Amino acid sequence: MSRSCLAVILAAGDSTRMKSSMSKVLHPIASRPMIAHVMAAVASAGMTDAALVVGRDADAVAKAGAVEDVTVEAFLQTERLGTGHAVLAAKDAIARGYDDVLVAYGDVPLITSGPFLAARQKLAEGADVVVIGFHTDKPTGYGRLLVENGELVAIREEKDATEEERKVTWCNSGLMAINGRKALALLEKIGNDNAKGEYYLTDLVEIARAAGGRVVAVDAPEAELTGCNNRAELAQIEKLWQERRRYELMLSGVTMIAPETVFLAYDTEIGQDAVIEPNVVFGPGVTVEGGAVVHAFSHLEGAHVSAGATVGPFARLRPGAHLAAGSKVGNFCEVKKAEIGEGAKVNHLTYIGDAFVGAHSNIGAGTITCNYDGVNKHVTRIGANAFIGSNSALVAPISIGDGAYVASGSVITADVPADALALGRARQEVKPERAKVIRERALAFKAAKKAKG
Ligand code: UD1
Ligand code: CA
Repeated sequence: MSRSCLAVILAAGDSTRMKSSMSKVLHPIASRPMIAHVMAAVASAGMTDAALVVGRDADAVAKAGAVEDVTVEAFLQTERLGTGHAVLAAKDAIARGYDDVLVAYGDVPLITSGPFLAARQKLAEGADVVVIGFHTDKPTGYGRLLVENGELVAIREEKDATEEERKVTWCNSGLMAINGRKALALLEKIGNDNAKGEYYLTDLVEIARAAGGRVVAVDAPEAELTGCNNRAELAQIEKLWQERRRYELMLSGVTMIAPETVFLAYDTEIGQDAVIEPNVVFGPGVTVEGGAVVHAFSHLEGAHVSAGATVGPFARLRPGAHLAAGSKVGNFCEVKKAEIGEGAKVNHLTYIGDAFVGAHSNIGAGTITCNYDGVNKHVTRIGANAFIGSNSALVAPISIGDGAYVASGSVITADVPADALALGRARQEVKPERAKVIRERALAFKAAKKAKG
């Protein structure tokens, strides 16, 4: 759509029921602030400029709401006088003149672009106000959409509604689209003569009609409109978000054995034929290519898992972990800021940090890259086809050449050239009969003690 579009996002509610020291819209869903979800929805509906109406934490909210290619401005609503008043807090933005103005709520994060796109289509067809409504069997608390002769004539708030009007089950989501050229004039006509003494955005329906304008409604699925007022609702929204995304991924060809135990981040990408076993947690920034397997109880964040690689069970991939095709990171291994080359194996109880592991190398159980000297981080480079014996400590900065061997139990502090064998451990001594001597002495000591009483 070539029409210009401003989104006004209302986020000035005092969020008392969250019992939080930060604005409600900063609380995360799927590892990113609620407000960012709303912003993503309006951005994919074509919004290019955003006005965030906030009551607190203005800078943090604007920062959390930042989207690529979108100008985001925060407007402070100092007094909370209703939704109509809140939209007018962004008066300066609206006054710039847009074709379309969208109104969204910062605390309704499951919303997608669909309802906004449908509403913008109605504006393009000549509507002045488009109400986004929904049907529900629990209408209590919502504004009701009142229809006469098939036309939307008013939105009646619960508190102002008659007994008869309260029976209506078609409700106002609160989200709206307004003809941007007329928006300011219409908004400025809103008064506060109602049960709550607030400036109701919903009055736009009657105001626009009185001015001879066209008002229509489009419907959104109720599931997208769940709002967040307290931590229990936050958890409920998280649950709904997770269910929706797991479902999408499964339909796109990802196997999840127990999907309800897999937790995804907003940007988790998983390719076709990947298998995600139970109890896997994805933090932000993870991509898993097709055919990879993530075994149970693994935790991944900022990591890339290439085709055919396997992770876990009980593996931790931290930011910057990059597993090449067919590589393996096994149980109780932690990988951070490290490349694990094609077909390389890091199978047991190992820490690989700030490192490069070449193709087809084998990292034995208990190997540790000692990357930190207490002040700085240093890099470990391991070539291709190297073999690091179990329980070795590689003290970085260090490099191990292609095809080199490190004997198990070594502490490696000097570089190892290609194809060399490095031993960095005490030489073994064997003393025949010595164990027996020690044991007999100990037994004699015990017997003497007992005899003394
Ligand atoms: C509003 C609608 C109602 C709709 C319901 C959907 C009005 C008058 N009523 O009612 O028809 O069914 O939403 O949830 O619009 N906000 C501000 N500043 C304000 C007031 C509100 O930023 O001064 C923000 C809140 O943070 C919230 C949103 O606007 O995100 C809605 O406010 P809320 O008080 O929840 O509206 P309702 O009375 O529930
Ligand atoms: Ca509400």
